[in-house]
Amino acid sequence: MLIIKETLPTDLEKILAVETLAFNRCDEADLVKKLLHDQTAKPFLSLLAMRENEAIGHLLFTKAYLENSKDLVSIALLAPLAVIPNYQKQGVGSLLVKEGLKRLHQQNFNLVFVLGYPEYYQRFGFQSAQKLGFFSPFPIPPQHSDAWMVLALTKNILGLVSGTVKCANSLNQPEYWRE
Ligand SMILES: CC(C)(COP(=O)(O)OP(=O)(O)OC[C@H]1O[C@@H](n2cnc3c(N)ncnc32)[C@H](O)[C@@H]1OP(=O)(O)O)[C@@H](O)C(=O)NCCC(=O)NCCS
Repeated sequence: MLIIKETLPTDLEKILAVETLAFNRCDEADLVKKLLHDQTAKPFLSLLAMRENEAIGHLLFTKAYLENSKDLVSIALLAPLAVIPNYQKQGVGSLLVKEGLKRLHQQNFNLVFVLGYPEYYQRFGFQSAQKLGFFSPFPIPPQHSDAWMVLALTKNILGLVSGTVKCANSLNQPEYWRE
């Protein structure tokens, strides 16, 4: 049976193992570790997908804000999403994203942003953010501009606000915004 649970500080090693296996390198695990200790990333939503006692997927949303409209809307940034190779393409990533979006909606978040594969995130309702007037913390190369996406969790919010998204300090480095 697969369950999605919010992580505890004691889950850190499991989270880092999932991130490292999924990406086959340490960069994302290092970033997640920093974000989980970053005051500017809070409140974050950190979810683990557990099968029996094994952690097989992890998803992190961190707090962000819209420059010039800081108090008007509550926004979150999805990064990263990771599923370990043996369990990919079995719906685990989708379940994490859907459950995360549901919880963010319950917590009154208005907008969620992601820099990711357009074909993957479109299925959850994400659409090109730049075309809607939202700019990423650092410029995305034009060939990847469609990878910068937004999803509205509340009605009638798109068109009302726009501008540049500011992210947590740990993510505020140009190397995280290249593709
Ligand atoms: C990307 C990832 C999170 C997807 O998780 P998952 O559990 O395998 O995904 P799901 O089972 O929910 O969905 C599978 C679908 O996603 C598609 N998909 C997987 N990776 C994709 C990619 N890079 N680009 C586009 N589509 C992708 C699959 O083709 C499949 O499509 P289908 O439903 O039409 O058959 C997972 O493959 C992973 O951890 N990859 C390595 C880490 C990574 O790149 N994360 C970044 C996400 S932005």
